[in-house]
Amino acid sequence: MPARPRTRGTDEGEPPSIEWVLAGRAYVNGRLQPVEIGIDEEGWIRRVARHIDSDRRHDVGEGIVLPSATDLHVHFREPGDPEASEDLASGTLQAAYGGVGTVGEMPNTQPPITDADRLRDKAARVAGRTHVDVLLYAALAPGVRVASLARVAGAFKLYLSPTTGQPEPTRISDASALLASAAETGLAVSVHAEEPAYFHDTSRVGTVEGWNAARPAPAEAYAVSELLSVAPPSLRLHIAHVTRAEVAAQLRRAGQSFETTPHHLLLSDRKGPDARFKVNPPLRSEPERRELLAAFERGEVPCLASDHAPHSLDAKRRPFPEAPSGMPGVETLLPLMLQRVRDGALAFPTLVAAACDRPARWAGLPQGRLAVGHRANLLVVDFRRSRSIGARSLHAPCSWSAFEGFPAIFPREHYRNGEALLLDGEYVGRPRGRVVRPDYAPGNDPTGPG
Ligand code: NCD
Ligand code: ZN
Repeated sequence: MPARPRTRGTDEGEPPSIEWVLAGRAYVNGRLQPVEIGIDEEGWIRRVARHIDSDRRHDVGEGIVLPSATDLHVHFREPGDPEASEDLASGTLQAAYGGVGTVGEMPNTQPPITDADRLRDKAARVAGRTHVDVLLYAALAPGVRVASLARVAGAFKLYLSPTTGQPEPTRISDASALLASAAETGLAVSVHAEEPAYFHDTSRVGTVEGWNAARPAPAEAYAVSELLSVAPPSLRLHIAHVTRAEVAAQLRRAGQSFETTPHHLLLSDRKGPDARFKVNPPLRSEPERRELLAAFERGEVPCLASDHAPHSLDAKRRPFPEAPSGMPGVETLLPLMLQRVRDGALAFPTLVAAACDRPARWAGLPQGRLAVGHRANLLVVDFRRSRSIGARSLHAPCSWSAFEGFPAIFPREHYRNGEALLLDGEYVGRPRGRVVRPDYAPGNDPTGPG
């Protein structure tokens, strides 16, 4: 990643050169107030102040400025079947519309990202095609060359249970050696934590409730406890898609990074035989969902991530046991939660911490805060403009959403490195996304203050 320009200029005694100023309102020191953000020619935030002199100003009036989100968990299916209902271009376009400025792209592709050549091939697909930045995960599994992958990867992903494109999970007994070698590389590891020994026969399951019963919550609780006991203390560990408040509380006590998803927060297993709602780990019961949402809204969940995992409607209409697991979500991640803010259920700073700041710090990326030295990856939202989610108004090639009919607040404006991707809710950008890799400078520590 290029050298950070944050000290350039100041080292030489020159004032930082501000190219343009975004003026609006923002939460600063816990209060919504008028703020101006000075952005330099390379797309970094150079100043945040009440007023900044500049010839080029864009005043969004009552609009609220916030950092764009970092979604640590998406499946954009590339490389893969060209008929698949997603690729890096279509996935990052949805991210742009949804206010996600950086995605963490998972390695369970066809073929999976298990060696450095595949990772380089994947990285080569990013330039000129992606609309937001991409952090590439490499698979952490028995037999992979961890050190060689770490020279190219942004982070690792470890699967402890079978999932799409990854039928052979890693056993917890093999995990500790893998986690130890990952810790040596300094790269972070996200884990899909479900212990298959707790699964029941899934071959005759016919409902979403049955899916929950067949991959039950103790499978997650057990895998998480085991992970906590084998992970080296120096490892930057992160638990993907936590589904229950008890597990969230346990991870919080352990000071451990983890994420939860909008579908586990907003949808429960009362969906009958509709396999669009089949996902791993499963949607839980209504009371469990509410407890998780309450924990999230109390600020007890460090990260929000989509686990965007689209499948075609044809695939979802197969008999329930054969239908694939997963649902799209990168475009609706932030808009659904901005609606919770508008409804008064969720504090705006809690959302920004979970969707923007902490995921960026976990990934070692200088973004996610309205702060000098951070990238000008910014959004403007208008809380008066709420609309109901419709599959046709989204940009997913799979053309369905589990959140149809949910009210949501989509960003009006989205900037990547100070350059507009969205204006008035419409895409005006260019595919200038790039591969980003971590820089774990002090202050990017996810367990640090904030
Ligand atoms: C994901 C997919 O389809 O790639 N499916 C899912 O249900 N979440 C894989 C995964 O993250 O387990
Ligand atoms: Zn996933």
